[in-house]
Amino acid sequence: MVGTMRSAYWTARRTLGLTPMRRTLAELERRGVVVKDLVTLEAFGGTGDNHILDYAARVASLEIWEIDPACEPILRRKAPTAKILITDSIAQLHRTQSRYDFIIFDNPMADYNDHKYCEHFDLFPGVFEVAADEAVLALSVVTRPTPLSRRRAPHLFNEVHLRRRREFYGTSTPDDVGFDEMARTYHRLAEAAGFHVDWWFGLERSIAHFIVMKIRRSCAAVE
Ligand SMILES: C[S@@+](CC[C@H](N)C(=O)[O-])C[C@H]1O[C@@H](n2cnc3c(N)ncnc32)[C@H](O)[C@@H]1O
Repeated sequence: MVGTMRSAYWTARRTLGLTPMRRTLAELERRGVVVKDLVTLEAFGGTGDNHILDYAARVASLEIWEIDPACEPILRRKAPTAKILITDSIAQLHRTQSRYDFIIFDNPMADYNDHKYCEHFDLFPGVFEVAADEAVLALSVVTRPTPLSRRRAPHLFNEVHLRRRREFYGTSTPDDVGFDEMARTYHRLAEAAGFHVDWWFGLERSIAHFIVMKIRRSCAAVE
């Protein structure tokens, strides 16, 4: 019963364009991105609950990567035309020959895979190898603890997570990193890989938010 009510709530929000991904698509269209033409990669598919239904039928094509094989049948049901790979997304970035126009990293929020990876940090700079010359990246980010995150995700901001955030964002306050400060890091990484960030915007969700940026291949990578 609770599950049915939750599903009806999200269907209504989707229809009204209120879900974070529907709001993201609307903002992309407003900025001149033609969503229906986007060759799309979702690198942490999960069971598709967060947002796959919001955009799967709206983009040109969709490839979904996910490490947990139990998710595969659920993803196949939700996104029947998508190409689904059960794989380690960080390793897959270096194996694929494909290029994508829209890349979504709905990554776990702290460290994962036995502390091997953290957030989307290990997907840089590899993401630039799979990005089309002009592409949109949507990354799950956490800015700072909130009462909700302390209750629902107490593992966030543990020692490993804080260390990785300190190193990745180059900050002395890893438990408090705003969208502007994050954007400076992505700008720097993009420039080093021969890309330029044309524009970006942040979109608040609940515990994790989205930072969405349009990148464009500019010139040879900076040595
Ligand atoms: C935040 S959830 C993704 C939610 C999903 N986008 C949705 O709409 O339901 C993060 C997912 O990353 C997966 N994951 C963890 N490590 C991974 C890895 N190395 N490669 C690919 N997927 C991984 C987890 O199994 C989990 O399903």
